[in-house]
Amino acid sequence: MRIILLGAPGAGKGTQSNFISKALGIPQISTGDMLRAAVKEETPLGRKAKEVMDSGNLVSDDIILDIIKERLKEDDCRSGCLFDGFPRTIAQAEALDREGITINHVIEIRVEDSSIIQRMSGRRVHPASGRTYHLTFNPPQQPGVDDETGEPLIQRVDDTEETVKKRLAIYHEQTSPLIEYYTGRTAEGTLDSPRFTTVEGTGKVEEIRDRILKALGA
Ligand code: AP5
Ligand code: ZN
Repeated sequence: MRIILLGAPGAGKGTQSNFISKALGIPQISTGDMLRAAVKEETPLGRKAKEVMDSGNLVSDDIILDIIKERLKEDDCRSGCLFDGFPRTIAQAEALDREGITINHVIEIRVEDSSIIQRMSGRRVHPASGRTYHLTFNPPQQPGVDDETGEPLIQRVDDTEETVKKRLAIYHEQTSPLIEYYTGRTAEGTLDSPRFTTVEGTGKVEEIRDRILKALGA
């Protein structure tokens, strides 16, 4: 089963990926996490991506498609995967189609822009795993440290209010057209068209998890 989690920055894609990937036994593929790992390791890719990411812009489609193609060659992707934060542009979605990588289900997590800034300012992440917390809405068991490893949590560089606003604008301009891209195809009923479900993303983390798992029949 291949699933795409679509949603604005801060909609809860990373938070929910954690549950879905465990429930379905498929790996989460987060282009954001992969890019942040490359930045941390100062690889050539990381050096190219850092400035773009810090400013809230999108990394070029070519770079993203290269890292996705490499990742999909790994054994754990054989039974499927969960894409988090990819595709992000129509060109990226078209590339998936061209490569014959069929998608079974697209889940859009919908959250109003007005809630997003508050979510981002309280976000803390465990960089090595991508596990995500919120100081108020989803706090770690012990302040400042990851539940599973006990390692310190950090704040993302691109979570300032100004950068979040920029990321939201880019989402509406370049990523939200994917909703039409996938729902249009579902309406056409072509054989390889994915199911598309919009899930209301406001409420308790567990409630949203249950809505998504129900939509996926898991
Ligand atoms: P990426 O890492 O993908 O960031 P994003 O899409 O902007 O999404 P976020 O990770 O910010 O949010 P999320 O939806 O995962 O929310 P989360 O679960 O953390 O990309 C970063 C950058 O990399 C991009 O800007 C771009 O430069 C580049 N990039 C990545 N992929 C790319 C691509 N394909 N093409 C081009 N460039 C690409 O939740 C947010 C907060 O809310 C957390 O604190 C969480 O605890 C809290 N929260 C979650 N659920 C709830 C709830 N129900 N109620 C209250 N709080 C909640
Ligand atoms: Zn994320």
